Amino acid sequence: MKISNVCILTAYLFLTLLVPIEAKNLDSGAQIYSDRCVLCHGNKGMGDGYIPMRLKGYPQTSLFESPKATDKAALVKVISKGVLTETVNEYMPPWENELTQEQISDLADFILYLRDDTESAIVMVTKYTRNLDKTVRDGRVIFETRCALCHGKLGLGDGRMARIIKSPPPANLTQTILPPEQMRLIIKLGGKDVGRSPKCLLGETL
Ligand code: HEC
Ligand code: HEC
Repeated sequence: MKISNVCILTAYLFLTLLVPIEAKNLDSGAQIYSDRCVLCHGNKGMGDGYIPMRLKGYPQTSLFESPKATDKAALVKVISKGVLTETVNEYMPPWENELTQEQISDLADFILYLRDDTESAIVMVTKYTRNLDKTVRDGRVIFETRCALCHGKLGLGDGRMARIIKSPPPANLTQTILPPEQMRLIIKLGGKDVGRSPKCLLGETL
């Protein structure tokens, strides 16, 4: 094979490999962003998340307005260390213990993309926020039909059955300190299998 052909072939292989990988990283970044970051930074990164919109005096969380982290290394650092970085305030959680290095790298790529080609990035993230909305909606229906009876409509532990079920009474779910993984387990297996009250049992029928 001629040298030039080899070059073309190599370049071609390189491109076919590179393009999908980058798209895949961005897509993964968009999904993690939607799961973990929208709550504070908003659907579009404009700082209009659920939390800042409801808490007076919450620091601004726009990823566009006077950004401090402007290249990939700085973004990776902020996302990994959050409040542990000198320049970042206490409301930005560190993610290095919850996310892998690869996920943090994908997030940094995604934020650069969001700043650079905002419209396309928003389209990408909307795909996942829509799903999230749907899961939250489905969850609410299940909660109202299968859990509220004991835990109460707002999860305060004051459902109708709470008058009958004592020691322990249905938990106040707004004050739970269970980590998500354990919460999933009790919901999935029911109280008895995780050493808790067998009265919390509807999970197993889901
Ligand atoms: C509980 C709220 C909260 C969550 C959740 C959150 N952040 Fe933040 N984030 C903040 C706040 C507040 C700031 C502003 C910190 C400052 O300016 O000192 C910030 C700042 C940042 C910055 C720096 C912006 C800049 O360049 O100045 C980046 C990047 C960032 N967050 C990314 C993320 C990513 C990615 C996620 C999801 C994995 C995330 N954040 C989740 C609250 C949050
Ligand atoms: C028949 C009543 C009943 C129903 C229905 C019920 N639970 Fe429970 N749940 C309880 C009781 C009682 C406890 C306290 C268990 C204990 O402390 O051992 C509990 C505890 C829990 C806890 C642990 C909270 C904590 O902080 O320890 C979670 C999470 C939970 N329930 C979720 C659910 C969900 C989600 C549903 C619906 C799928 C549900 N429960 C349906 C009675 C019920």
